[in-house]
Amino acid sequence: MEKLVITGGNRLEGTVDISGAKNAALPLMCAPLLTDEPMTLTNLPRLADITTLSDLLNHLGVTVTIAGGNGGGLTGRSMTFDASNIADTVAPYDIVRKMRASIIVLGPLVARAGEAIVSLPGGCAIGNRPIDLHLKALEALGADIDLEDGYVRASAPKGLSGGTVRFPFVSVGATENALMAAALAKGTSVIENAAREPEIADLANCLIAMGAKIEGAGTETITIEGVDRLHGTTYAVMPDRIEAGSYAVAALMTRGNLLLQNARMADIQAPMDVLSEAGAIISEEKDGVRVKSNGHLQGFNIVTQPFPAFPTDMQAQFMALATVADGASVITEAIFENRFMHVPELCRLGADITVTGASATIRGVPSLRGAQVMATDLRASMSLALAGLVADGDTVVNRLYHLDRGYERLEEKLRNVGAQIERVSA
Ligand code: UD1
Repeated sequence: MEKLVITGGNRLEGTVDISGAKNAALPLMCAPLLTDEPMTLTNLPRLADITTLSDLLNHLGVTVTIAGGNGGGLTGRSMTFDASNIADTVAPYDIVRKMRASIIVLGPLVARAGEAIVSLPGGCAIGNRPIDLHLKALEALGADIDLEDGYVRASAPKGLSGGTVRFPFVSVGATENALMAAALAKGTSVIENAAREPEIADLANCLIAMGAKIEGAGTETITIEGVDRLHGTTYAVMPDRIEAGSYAVAALMTRGNLLLQNARMADIQAPMDVLSEAGAIISEEKDGVRVKSNGHLQGFNIVTQPFPAFPTDMQAQFMALATVADGASVITEAIFENRFMHVPELCRLGADITVTGASATIRGVPSLRGAQVMATDLRASMSLALAGLVADGDTVVNRLYHLDRGYERLEEKLRNVGAQIERVSA
């Protein structure tokens, strides 16, 4: 087991390359299931979740080729997906249990092959995370849904048909499943109360490049005119807004100055507004977003909500920031019911945090102290690494596999801008 050892106290300065977005890449990698022509994605991050989904696609009969054969260099790689022959329509438990996002194969698979059998992803560390909205969406498009032996079976042997999908609340993954399924359904579909996350527009743009007819992606109503077939294309994955936001926090926390190369301001406006309030000077530059400290760090309040509001995926990182800010901050988690597992770990570093229901009150302390901590989920891991950057002495972050699911070359990127951070074998 590997761990990170971070010696706090260094100010970060320089440029951080923001990688392709994991949460855009995963649905984009399922889009090739919709066509019998090869498709290439560029700017894919090198992450464990990408490998897991590649393995699943492989299992389904998709040939996955990595450009250059060796990972395609350090700045994002290209992969070609050839789903001309779908050999299997079953997504097995052994792969799905590793990554909940595997559920996004359901829509494209049933749309193209007439059937999809996907293991139920089950619970997850940050809450129950049911898939009822995914299933209701596919039912609205004419699929029959059965649940048996821990698997969900969606079938539409004669193809899907256009319909209206009305989500009672916003779900990113269910919107993605509905969008891909509707692209090949007969007739017109409308998705109401669709997620507006930038990853949805990224997926829609890729589908449009494949020949899909989609209007309104990025708004709450998406209209899809189904087509008979889609074709291959080459598409570049959008930059990772959550990674960008995480490094933005690192810049302010260490009273530093970082250029987040490739980051797009429109994707991170809400968290950057909070960061400005807390003491950052933020400017849009030609090739990214610059975040620097104004010398002060002030407490702030956050409520997580679907895009364009403050993202749940940045909640833990901003909590790390609040632990060393002046005054009190209140952070309310309104998306997932159990997403405060980083709180006891941050407290081990000397943070003062009280949780009441879905809200955490963080009273800033003058300094944190390094300690051994345990990463509990992906974003929680990053919050601990951020805290380690400013804690006195050494912070040791255990269970790195969470971090490796979502942050490409974390230690290298942090070291390049002045952090003292080492990955060691336990
Ligand atoms: C995606 C992101 C994840 C992010 C989340 C919210 C990916 C791969 N993951 O996850 O990083 O934290 O959006 O921005 O893109 N829900 C149901 N029934 C469903 C589906 C969802 O009740 O069928 C609930 C969830 O439990 C949660 C809320 O809806 O409380 C939002 O979840 P959703 O937007 O679906 O998250 P994911 O797509 O799983």
